[in-house]
Amino acid sequence: MTSILQTIGLQKAYQMGEVTVNALQGVDFTVEKGEFVAIMGPSGSGKSTLLHLLGGLDAPSDGEVMLGGRRLAHLSDDDITIVRRRQIGFIFQFFNLLPTLSAAENVALPLLIDGRSLDEYRLRIDELLTLVGLGDRQDHKPDQLSGGQQQRVAIARALVTDPVIVLADEPTGNLDSESGDEILRLLRRACDEKQQTIVMVTHDPKAAEYADRIVRLKDGLVETG
Ligand SMILES: Nc1ncnc2c1ncn2[C@@H]1O[C@H](COP(=O)(O)OP(=O)(O)OP(=O)(O)O)[C@@H](O)[C@H]1O
Ligand SMILES: [Mg+2]
Repeated sequence: MTSILQTIGLQKAYQMGEVTVNALQGVDFTVEKGEFVAIMGPSGSGKSTLLHLLGGLDAPSDGEVMLGGRRLAHLSDDDITIVRRRQIGFIFQFFNLLPTLSAAENVALPLLIDGRSLDEYRLRIDELLTLVGLGDRQDHKPDQLSGGQQQRVAIARALVTDPVIVLADEPTGNLDSESGDEILRLLRRACDEKQQTIVMVTHDPKAAEYADRIVRLKDGLVETG
């Protein structure tokens, strides 16, 4: 197997006036291509911070993130933006759909932002919405969809660029357990059928069972043993 994502001695300190919060204190971990990894740990242990650094949404204080063999820190801001757009799919706890756009337009958004012509991708958007069980909801706006359906749109959006990795922060945190299970089954399928690499933060041990492996964080460090 090839490792698609690796962190080496990853540290993140947040400066709050006089106070320094050491959110990550030297995290080493590796994700192989096609793996579905769950990150667990108590509130404040650094899970979201880690996910933000993995996705290039924020820069580490020290240490490295390597995505597909490239050091994110060595990329220019423009290149990081392109990596984020084309190689990473994000799924958040609160869906983060644009309220004025239809389901299909929300799925298309990463392509539009990347300056690609929609006409080329209509079929793909249709396929993805069908995959997540929303083939008949393409023109619905987010407020015309249930929470679980909105999160399924967000999954389709995260997959639309065929990203190297999908990063999900508590994707079921805001859903009832039935809708949550549906989301987890979809992520599992993306992994099994499309060899999609996924890193998912979750509090929920049941959600973590869908993953191949669990990485536990505590006080900004990976727990061993
Ligand atoms: N932007 C920020 N500025 C200052 N401190 C921050 C910031 N973001 C996070 N922190 C602090 O860093 C630590 C880790 O936060 P993080 O959000 O990564 O935790 P988490 O494991 O995702 O927690 P939760 O399970 O509650 O979502 C916490 O002590 C938090 O207060
Ligand atoms: Mg968090």
